Amino acid sequence: VTTGVTFTVNGKPVTLQLDTRTSLLDALREHLHLTGSKKGCDQGQCGACTVIMDGRRINSCLSLAVMHEGANITTIEGLGTPEKLHPMQAAFIKHDGYQCGYCTPGQICASVSVIEEIRQGIPSHVTADLNVKPLLSVEEIRERMSGNICRCGAYSNIIDAITEVGG
Ligand code: FES
Repeated sequence: VTTGVTFTVNGKPVTLQLDTRTSLLDALREHLHLTGSKKGCDQGQCGACTVIMDGRRINSCLSLAVMHEGANITTIEGLGTPEKLHPMQAAFIKHDGYQCGYCTPGQICASVSVIEEIRQGIPSHVTADLNVKPLLSVEEIRERMSGNICRCGAYSNIIDAITEVGG
């Protein structure tokens, strides 16, 4: 079954006619040619497909595109430009927060959301268990970023980048 869906991607309204089974990730990559968001596992395990939807990060491989009528979606392509990088992109470069780069778009989208979650006081498992206000600690960042896998193991540099932007 095909149906229409309209949402905003990186500030631009788009309308697509899609098979209702199309994931948001496939809609972005195959229909809108925004290939920054990566398909690692297609099963919600790796975080390479992370995008920001209405201010929250989601795994776009796990979500059907047609569920997001009216949503505001930001992908890595919408965070900065080559001339003017988003502060998180600049911090990843400064701290070498990648090696092969495949997971990086998802890592950066997740990182931007993590800073916002902490700023808004949204608890993680760590802070909910301890019943404390979330702070930008290494433990807190590790917990919140645990859905984004880096097979090269650039984790400590990624945490340094997030700490710099959030600090
Ligand atoms: Fe979506 Fe791995 S491709 S979590």
